[in-house]
Amino acid sequence: MDNWEELESACKECKKCALNETRTNVVIGVGNRDSEVLFIGEGPGESEDLKGEPFVGRAGKLLDDMLQIIGLDRNRNIYIANIVKCRPPKNRDPSNEEREACSGWLNAQYALISPKIVVCLGRIAAEAIIGAGFKITRDHGKWHDINGVKTMALFHPAALLRDPNRRPETFVDLKELERVIKSECTRTL
Ligand code: URA
Ligand code: SF4
Repeated sequence: MDNWEELESACKECKKCALNETRTNVVIGVGNRDSEVLFIGEGPGESEDLKGEPFVGRAGKLLDDMLQIIGLDRNRNIYIANIVKCRPPKNRDPSNEEREACSGWLNAQYALISPKIVVCLGRIAAEAIIGAGFKITRDHGKWHDINGVKTMALFHPAALLRDPNRRPETFVDLKELERVIKSECTRTL
């Protein structure tokens, strides 16, 4: 994939896995393509499937609030993508086969953005990007070097809606993210 136009037009037509049969829209990503910071979620839910944009439901509203605490904005200084681009029926976890089938699109986005910092949202993204042994309750907020890119995971905003007790830890993780963005990035904050 040499450019975004090529990526987006091909991804919109993708039938590499069975999720293409039940989707309304392919949810490719949102944000500034020149960002230094890439956020990666799990996959579209109902609202995202209908709108064609990541994180636009209730969890998305919380994500926007979390981002705002440290001066990030989906339309200005970050890019947000998902592990799978089509909604798994009834919001089940994407299967290994679906994650594998979809990985080429995220790899292409990763290559085009060439991020300085990657933030995984939740367990599914962290397992895919950081590694199968990742434990979100233990490893959230810690930095990992993934092919030379500083990578961390936050609790998924949907998990924070279910379990508000995790919010104080997430605040600490966000402040750590802000600190590293300020020291590593030149165009973000
Ligand atoms: N949850 C995700 O992981 N991604 C979205 O786009 C929406 C909800
Ligand atoms: Fe293609 Fe990914 Fe959608 Fe499957 S989930 S059809 S691999 S874009």
